[in-house]
Amino acid sequence: MQKKSPISICLFPAAGYGTRFLPATKAMPKEMLPVLTKPLIQYGVEEAMSAGMNTMAIVTGRGKRAIEDHFDVSYELEHQIQGTAKEKQLADIRHLIDKCTFSYTRQIEMKGLGHAILTGETLIGNQPFSVILADDLCVNDEEGVLSQMVALYKTYQCSIVAIEEIDPSQTDKYGVIAGDEIEPGIYRVSTMVEKPSPEDAPSNLAIIGRYILTPDIFEILRHTKPGKGGEIQITDALMEQAREGKVIAYTFRGKRYDCGSVDGYVKATVELYEKDKQNLKS
Ligand code: UTP
Repeated sequence: MQKKSPISICLFPAAGYGTRFLPATKAMPKEMLPVLTKPLIQYGVEEAMSAGMNTMAIVTGRGKRAIEDHFDVSYELEHQIQGTAKEKQLADIRHLIDKCTFSYTRQIEMKGLGHAILTGETLIGNQPFSVILADDLCVNDEEGVLSQMVALYKTYQCSIVAIEEIDPSQTDKYGVIAGDEIEPGIYRVSTMVEKPSPEDAPSNLAIIGRYILTPDIFEILRHTKPGKGGEIQITDALMEQAREGKVIAYTFRGKRYDCGSVDGYVKATVELYEKDKQNLKS
């Protein structure tokens, strides 16, 4: 059964080029790379749905049409396998299509994650929303990361970022936060820096691809100047909310695989295979 949630919509920025996976991502979106038999973005949609969300807003770009086709009925294919054992393999995706609404908009120029989120405003309007970066695959058998964050949102009613402790040498790959620990593993953010070098990092607490954002973020993003790498960074916009004490960082329970990197992707595939091989439908 779907849970009731104060947040009904999940945004998936999925317009990036996925250059670390070239040539695989030349004509195919990174979000469609499969871990076992499911594309990354389907794991994300399942996580959002189990957190009580039923509207999936996807920011796409050129060459990403496979995502739209994936979350649609394939009459020809379904007709072909009707009545065979293979029908079961489409049951999960069919369930998602039946229960959720999918809407899309295109980011015309890839000006960064902050810009991608701003592009999604037209699909969201004036309400709090969640964000999943599908290439961060998060696994928790009891409660998905987004569900954990929704529970926290009910208490704090402000923007929330999921964080994890990383090796200090890796800070230049992440947004890094610092703040007061107000409950075990929960921080009120006072500083955030995008991809700092280890010497400049305020901590080793890195933001991963799960956010809950309040809609005032759009107004902030509209005037956020390009930052690190010449891109409009969500971290810079969040810093404006953080100055008013309105950003919480949450050390999530579960395991994250960085499937935007080849190492993380292979690790996810191997570990999920070990866990799920009994259930894989052949
Ligand atoms: P990444 O930097 O991890 O993704 O962006 P990328 O650019 O696709 O990958 P590489 O580094 O070239 O291999 C994080 C997320 O933000 C989205 C990406 O799709 C990814 O989900 N994104 C990034 C956008 O939607 N638009 C952008 O302009 C940039």
